[in-house]
Amino acid sequence: MSSMGEDEEVSSFFESSPPLKKMEDILEKLNGFIELNSSGEKRRIVCVTSGGTTVPLEQRCVRYIDNFSSGNRGAASTENFVKAGYAVVFLYRSGTCQPYCRSLPDDPFLECFQSLDNTNIQVHSSHVEAVKMAVMDQQAAVAEARLLKLPFTTIYEYLQMLRLIATALKDVGPCSMFYLAAAVSDFYVPWNSMTEHKIESGSGPLDIRLAQVPKMLSILRTTWAPKAFCISFKLETDAKILIDKATKALGKYKVHAVVANELSTRKEEVVVVSSSGNVVVRRDSDKPESIVEDNLIRLIVDRHSTYIKESHS
Ligand code: PMT
Repeated sequence: MSSMGEDEEVSSFFESSPPLKKMEDILEKLNGFIELNSSGEKRRIVCVTSGGTTVPLEQRCVRYIDNFSSGNRGAASTENFVKAGYAVVFLYRSGTCQPYCRSLPDDPFLECFQSLDNTNIQVHSSHVEAVKMAVMDQQAAVAEARLLKLPFTTIYEYLQMLRLIATALKDVGPCSMFYLAAAVSDFYVPWNSMTEHKIESGSGPLDIRLAQVPKMLSILRTTWAPKAFCISFKLETDAKILIDKATKALGKYKVHAVVANELSTRKEEVVVVSSSGNVVVRRDSDKPESIVEDNLIRLIVDRHSTYIKESHS
């Protein structure tokens, strides 16, 4: 029996996926955003993916398998891309960390506000500055069409939306970028082999067979958006295998760089692995406000500039 080729696996994944809800609405927002940023003063456009995808175990989902990602990397990177003049399509997992909200407390609504009497709610004085900056920065980014936020939850939604975005950005060519920080499920339950109703719990241990999610990086590079600059991520918990894995991913998927990070040190340092060598990028530890994304995005934007210049020559 011959095994399926990569393209066939990808087509079969999409054919068997439940249709994306509000697809027309998403496309309209996306195309409007791209048009605004491609006419007049042309901006570079980056799609930042952020947060983890879920794998439902039931069609009417009660239980699911999740992938670790707080969304902090994607949110902080988005802020830095906007600062660098990019327009950002922020494809994020619902409920994860949002751009401009990193200085707010964990439960911003309840901790930032206080009720003075029955009719008046006020921002607590200790949070006024953080709330003001978050509101102003986010409103400015949206009003100037520098930020479009698109939420996903499941692996099905994420991959269908990634394909939509990539295809819509095709004409932006080398000025577009994919910065794939989302933690994407490697295994899933195919929709047509999934039970419709909640799995019953009274009949002992549960055996589930998970199929492999086809890797979409190759098809993104070769077919969906071949001219876009493409950055993928590699997360490992064992530092000893991290660089080797990232180097292999660079060769296999032909992305322009792989950002390698180890779970426990990911907020302190990352290694940018590319054909021009490996660069360690660290947070400026002498500045308490500094985050690794400040230096990481500076480097990625520089590399993107070189890529655009080379594509035009
Ligand atoms: O969100 P934080 O808490 O701040 O943490 C940030 C992070 C650690 C999640 C982030 O920096 C990171 O490393 N993200 C990628 C983690 C990951 O899922 O790695 P992976 O080995 O599964 O995937 C590698 C690449 O292949 C990713 O760019 C992914 O988008 C892509 N992929 C994965 C599966 C799949 N089926 N298709 C893909 O294209």
